[in-house]
Amino acid sequence: MTARILDGRAVAGEVHGEVRQGVDLLRLETGVTPGLAVVLVGRDSASEVYVAAKERAARAVGIETETIRLPADCSEFDLLLEIERCNRDSRFHGILVQLPLPPHIDPMTAIGTVNPLKDVDGLHPENMGLLLMGAPRFVPCTPAGIQRVLVDSEVSTDGRHLVICGRSRVVGRPLAALMMQKHREANATVTIAHTGTRNLVSMCQQADILVVAIDSPKGVTADMVKKGAVVIDVGIHRVPDSTARKGYRIVGDVDFDSVMERAGAITPVPGGIGPMTVAMLLVNTLKAARLAVRTGEQSPYTSAVV
Ligand code: GUN
Repeated sequence: MTARILDGRAVAGEVHGEVRQGVDLLRLETGVTPGLAVVLVGRDSASEVYVAAKERAARAVGIETETIRLPADCSEFDLLLEIERCNRDSRFHGILVQLPLPPHIDPMTAIGTVNPLKDVDGLHPENMGLLLMGAPRFVPCTPAGIQRVLVDSEVSTDGRHLVICGRSRVVGRPLAALMMQKHREANATVTIAHTGTRNLVSMCQQADILVVAIDSPKGVTADMVKKGAVVIDVGIHRVPDSTARKGYRIVGDVDFDSVMERAGAITPVPGGIGPMTVAMLLVNTLKAARLAVRTGEQSPYTSAVV
């Protein structure tokens, strides 16, 4: 068996087209152009790449974007002040604090300082809580992207066993909340496997749909996959490769070549979930701008810092 490739790049292209239309319509009807602020602390090279991709994609669909760069040694307080400035700036309907943050800054404090009505990452406790309660406002971008790829690829999750490897705040936890919802495009039986899970291999083998977000290059191999399962690879790693022009290759958390022979469908890396994450950020930013128009900028939010 050779798996069907679930082309995230193609689905992301469709999403970009939908957002572009939505942005044009909003501007026509209200004169408002959606705006996105990206806050980047330090010079983490992977983060630089992601932020550049987000900026490019936003501009391409007509979303105005500004990246606010702070030095790696800035204080937590300076970061919170910058977030507050963005909260008050009506040009920005969406705010994203790129993770990871330097170790001296608490990510929970930073995320919790973003106005939840501008939290296009969907990571603020209020938005996570709404998602868990089955009333999502902003769904975190990677889980939203995974759901959209599955829906567009006509992979039904309804009643199927979805095993998520990894319990991160950005992927595993919100994806579990999203996929257990009583909704046609979710309704899965969800298991989260993590570093404390006993017999990870047999847990993975039970998955109809296996989502891998373990931050370990090629960590999931063919023996861990049920024949015909759908495999979603969230990882992205640079591994040295002397035969490659750049001296490295991009791989995911799944050993693509071996799993390809066993799975029914699989997302590639690159070109799978990565572009979907960016696309869903655009969706959330458009949604935030519409929300701001509806509520007349009168958010109930009050500053916790200044
Ligand atoms: N770093 C890796 N993934 C993400 C994400 O989804 N959002 C943010 N803000 N940072 C990330």
